[in-house]
Amino acid sequence: PLLALFVVGYLCGTIPFGLLLARIGGHGDIRKIGSGNIGATNVLRTGNKSLAAATLLGDLLKGTVPVLVGHHFAGDAGAMAGGAGAFLGHLFPVWLGFKGGKGVATYIGVLLGLAPVGVLVFAVAWLLVAYLTRYSSAAALTATVAVPVAYALLGFSHFAIFVSVLSAIVWIKHEANIRRLLSGSESRIGAKG
Ligand code: G3P
Repeated sequence: PLLALFVVGYLCGTIPFGLLLARIGGHGDIRKIGSGNIGATNVLRTGNKSLAAATLLGDLLKGTVPVLVGHHFAGDAGAMAGGAGAFLGHLFPVWLGFKGGKGVATYIGVLLGLAPVGVLVFAVAWLLVAYLTRYSSAAALTATVAVPVAYALLGFSHFAIFVSVLSAIVWIKHEANIRRLLSGSESRIGAKG
């Protein structure tokens, strides 16, 4: 059953909301704009804020649903199997030649399904760093460190270990962003990418 929950999660995760919504919204192929990423941050670079918000929501909820379904059928292990599937589906979608997004919105969605306090911690850390730096990537990278620490402190030890792995993958996926942050060339929120 865990494998089935993982596969269902994976299929949900492969729905590329940013790519679909940007296309429907008349902005063409989002992979040819800004950073080339299919996520909400890059959809925001089209200047269409509601489309970016819709991308965030879609990519987020496709992480939450498999976690809740997984929990229903197999408890915490099922929740994590569904969440892992959704997260990896977003990163490596079979429909896009396994070239997907960076996983931040889906990560938040997984937190929402596992233990929603994680979303609160993520939001506080993200907003603080985004407010101070205007870097979406730096905000997300900070938040993905804060969440496992918070889960561990709050006694969700198995979720802390699980999301640490997801956080490490988010960091690996942000390699180019980290390089740009270090060289001062990362694009800021509100600037055209
Ligand atoms: O964490 C936000 C990240 O996804 C940045 O996106 O488009 O700037 O690479 P992008």
